[in-house]
Amino acid sequence: ETVDWDPQDTGKGGYDHYMLKEINEQPTALGRSVSGRTDSGGEEVDLDGFLPGSFDGIDRVHLVAMGTSYHAAMYAESLLARRGVPARAFMSSEYAGSTPPEEDGTLVIAISQSGETADTIAAVRAASAERTMVATNVVGSSLTRECDDTLLVRAGPEIGVAATKSFSAQVATLSLLAERIRRDAVGDPSPDAAAFLSALTRLPDQVRRVVESGAAERIADAFADSESYFFIGRGPGHAVALEGALKFKEITYEHAEGFTAAELKHGPLALVTEETPVFAVFNGGTDDTETLGNVKEIRARGGPVVAVAGGETSDLAETVDHVLSVPSTHPELAGVLANVQLQLVAYHAAKQRGRAIDKPRNLAKSVTV
Ligand code: G6P
Repeated sequence: ETVDWDPQDTGKGGYDHYMLKEINEQPTALGRSVSGRTDSGGEEVDLDGFLPGSFDGIDRVHLVAMGTSYHAAMYAESLLARRGVPARAFMSSEYAGSTPPEEDGTLVIAISQSGETADTIAAVRAASAERTMVATNVVGSSLTRECDDTLLVRAGPEIGVAATKSFSAQVATLSLLAERIRRDAVGDPSPDAAAFLSALTRLPDQVRRVVESGAAERIADAFADSESYFFIGRGPGHAVALEGALKFKEITYEHAEGFTAAELKHGPLALVTEETPVFAVFNGGTDDTETLGNVKEIRARGGPVVAVAGGETSDLAETVDHVLSVPSTHPELAGVLANVQLQLVAYHAAKQRGRAIDKPRNLAKSVTV
């Protein structure tokens, strides 16, 4: 299989940084990940060579990855679990030492932008699973040779060390894969498959609206002098909170941490002051009420809160300091839009500080040792 990449994709194309260029390319990257793989009616999932029945006999999924790809793995864990497919995300480096022996029916999915991450290759080699596959952005990469099957995420070349468009494309691709596995493993489409898949086809346009909005830069300015930056969310929003914090620390060199929203009162709330803005990711589903409760606990301790939320946010605006709004979508996909806002916040915060955004100190695009 081959993927068409525009040679113009390499080169900054008028942007100050590859990172900003790649953030702006997300509508195209997502379009490529989704196009031809489902229909706007949300009926079909047509994933390259993975025909219906490809995942017959799969009872559980282990996802292995590092860095940003690990956050995509966590996101996918939540998508699979909600579709009745038991799934667990592992950091690749911990997989060999922490998993129960795999039983028949376990599918191990490696997620890797480059397909070259040494820890992830080692995890796949250690896996005794009957079947392994990789979701990767690079045709012919090492993991495509190590694994039984390959699913391409089609993000296009990513140059910035901080992964951006590859995360969005991974989540979109894994969304389709989760629905494919569900249909084979459980025997029918998930109950809201039509709503979910049609929301997926609208995602590229919605991401375009986010990157055009300019709101993230104002938020980065408002909190330019803070001590630490916290990120919270639940379910897919938890994965996005961790990714938001990772992006922020990688390129701004400021202290940033991500938590699941419920975790705060079990310790991290001790750190919350006026100097610690908290970015709260709302999924737009029933769990928002609980996240709002966590936000109130932060506000009561004087912590500034930025809600990243979709849809009607006027009630929310009364409780929080700022709302970074995103278009309204399916609750399982809101995290993709929230993540783009958080990428932009990190980008603008790093730019204010004059950081080497495309090549942050001490970091490499691909860790092959
Ligand atoms: C490095 C990069 C990260 C990346 C991680 C996993 O740490 O700096 O941006 O997320 O490797 O890379 P992979 O190519 O396996 O997705």
